Amino acid sequence: MSRMLEGKVVLVTGGGSGIGRATAAAMAREGARVAVADLSQEGIEATVALINSAGGQGIAITGDVAEETDVANMVARTVAAFGRIDCAFNNAGVSGRAVGPTGQRLHELAQSSVAKMFAVNLMGVFLCLKHEITQMLAQGGGGAIVNTSSIAGLIGLATSGHYVAAKHGVVGLTKTAAIEYASDGIRVNCVNPGYIQTPMTDEMMKTRHDEIMAKVPVRRLGRADEIAEAVVWMCSDKASFMTGAVHLVDGGYCAA
Ligand SMILES: NC(=O)c1ccc[n+]([C@@H]2O[C@H](COP(=O)([O-])OP(=O)(O)OC[C@H]3O[C@@H](n4cnc5c(N)ncnc54)[C@H](O)[C@@H]3O)[C@@H](O)[C@H]2O)c1
Repeated sequence: MSRMLEGKVVLVTGGGSGIGRATAAAMAREGARVAVADLSQEGIEATVALINSAGGQGIAITGDVAEETDVANMVARTVAAFGRIDCAFNNAGVSGRAVGPTGQRLHELAQSSVAKMFAVNLMGVFLCLKHEITQMLAQGGGGAIVNTSSIAGLIGLATSGHYVAAKHGVVGLTKTAAIEYASDGIRVNCVNPGYIQTPMTDEMMKTRHDEIMAKVPVRRLGRADEIAEAVVWMCSDKASFMTGAVHLVDGGYCAA
């Protein structure tokens, strides 16, 4: 059977852990050469080792998606190693826990926490789109980009106002990019995971597992590979008519 991303070059941000790692590995399995970018050097080295030990080709790039020079470097290093970028998965992100105290309603959130959240989860996606699309336009031949939003990109979640706003913003960037670059053959979609078992949710699940599971119709956390398979498909030519779309992979959370 032919592989879904045979010969493609992909850039995955947040590839050092969780959903990004699972997706980078799945993309390599489907024939892509993968540039794995993340703040965490240790994380990306482990992901690249996983890819290379399975017979794939991966490179590791450290950088912060909130810094434009780092994002430009991620794109430049990918092109230097593999010659082009066909697909990108803009997935790096942080939870509320990483930017300040948890459990705060909007009036309690510090401006600095909100600014940090927006810098990574929204500006980071903007900067990646900007530099990836610039490269795709220059090389020609189109491309496919998937941004990681969340169920929080479609509904409100109490005490996560900054996360919710950033993830709604990712949906807006996705739709706008899809319209602006459709005529260039560049497809832009987003994936909206529900609660997935990754290091990001480990702490939260220690205290809120039962409360959250009561709201998930399938009554379990999703696995990172269940997001990865959807992203691989969205990046592949099998999704050739799909752009500007929002894809819930949430165990039915938003349907309930
Ligand atoms: N786990 C979930 O339940 C869930 C649900 C919905 C959406 N998401 C989103 O999925 C994405 C991946 O999350 P995950 O669950 O795999 O979490 P994770 O914490 O396992 O992985 C996130 C990765 O992003 C990296 N990262 C963080 N800030 C960065 C920055 N400024 N520059 C570069 N890399 C950075 C981290 O180092 C980490 O390796 C995030 O955007 C998250 O918001 C997760």
